[in-house]
Amino acid sequence: MSNVLRLALVDPQDDSRETLKKMLLGMDVVWLEAECSRYEFFPDVVSQSSPDVGVVSLDTDPEKAIALLERMRNEAPSCAMLAVSSSGDGQLILRSMRAGAKEFLTVPISLEDLMEALSRISDGKYGTSNGSSRNTKIIAVAGASGGVGCTSVAVNLGCVLAANPEYTVALVDLDLAIGDADVFLDTIPDYSLLDVTENISRLDFQLLKRSLTKHSSGLYLLPRPVQLQDVKLITPDSLRRVFGLLKATFSHIVIDVSKGFTETDLAAFEFANEVLVVVQLDLPCLRNLVRLQMSFDEIEGLRDKLKIVVNRVGLESGQIKLKKAKETIGRDIFFQIPNDYRTMIEVRNNGVPLLEQAPKAPISLAMQGLAKLLSGAENAGSSEQADVDSPAAATNSWLNFWPNKNSNAKSRG
Ligand SMILES: Nc1ncnc2c1ncn2[C@@H]1O[C@H](COP(=O)(O)OP(=O)(O)O)[C@@H](O)[C@H]1O
Ligand SMILES: [Mg+2]
Repeated sequence: MSNVLRLALVDPQDDSRETLKKMLLGMDVVWLEAECSRYEFFPDVVSQSSPDVGVVSLDTDPEKAIALLERMRNEAPSCAMLAVSSSGDGQLILRSMRAGAKEFLTVPISLEDLMEALSRISDGKYGTSNGSSRNTKIIAVAGASGGVGCTSVAVNLGCVLAANPEYTVALVDLDLAIGDADVFLDTIPDYSLLDVTENISRLDFQLLKRSLTKHSSGLYLLPRPVQLQDVKLITPDSLRRVFGLLKATFSHIVIDVSKGFTETDLAAFEFANEVLVVVQLDLPCLRNLVRLQMSFDEIEGLRDKLKIVVNRVGLESGQIKLKKAKETIGRDIFFQIPNDYRTMIEVRNNGVPLLEQAPKAPISLAMQGLAKLLSGAENAGSSEQADVDSPAAATNSWLNFWPNKNSNAKSRG
């Protein structure tokens, strides 16, 4: 974890302190170092725990609290003070700021406001442009053709990651019109991406988590909107805000993007650390991939995030040879997932993830391997699965008609 802010909190009122505490404890970007119920004890608490941020609730006794802010400015200048009050009175805000508060938040505090305030404090402290993100891993899963297995990979990858008790994982269904991640997980969600988007300024951590549907695997699902008419309400801008919140809460976010490569999908690519493109070894798919890669080249930073995942390896004898496919797309294959029609049918009919249905099946082990490669280490992307060619591969001379992408598409080694 980098740039986690250590906090100390003072609020003499038990209930509001508990509320604040719960909110802070739910955020991975902060570490609650100490809490205190008396203004007069706070300087000692701060000198012992040396937090990055001191949170002072003003409500119990604003005069005392403002005097405390002044004292802290002198005694602990490196601790950024954040004042919290249920009053938004201009005079009170002004006095707090003059007393040294760096930020002022009004109760009820929205998670987004808190994040922004902490982000500004973090920026001031570390000079980072993104204080709100610890190393949340965002993995977008796209497909180069319809039905290639994009959702299968996204859902099962999410479930495998969620099985790790150290991770908190959210799956966002960005296939806004016809996404089916909820069906894969056999859930009927109460809320969708639209609800989160519309209520974003009111959301606190609890509400955010309650808006997501928790699957028995531990995976949190944020499904696509119910109504087709609502799709247009999800904009890149609103998504940016949703992801800002999700990043504060989850260690991993998996995004199932649509086949439309819409502006929201492209926004997801922007947030993502890794963009998996699922393909199958057939002509239309590889052809699309070549074309997509050309377009992706125009988007800054995207080429480096791309990772090709070949799904359904061994499907049929007509499949294009892996070596040939690799030459054609001009980059290495990051991962291969075997074909397993029977298991996938069972998984689909039962609405359970592979890990639960058939944990030892080669396809499940492949998903686990993929999760391991992607799970966290910053350099995970540079390693690849051992290069095994498709058993059913055949020579396909027609591939030679395609322009050789090797020259302008250097693969990452
Ligand atoms: N490795 C695989 N082996 C066999 N069937 C698969 C495999 N991956 C996906 N499928 C099946 O292919 C179909 C389409 O998969 P899906 O994940 O919905 O694709 P997409 O999201 O790209 O449209 C599903 O019925 C799924 O069960
Ligand atoms: Mg899908």
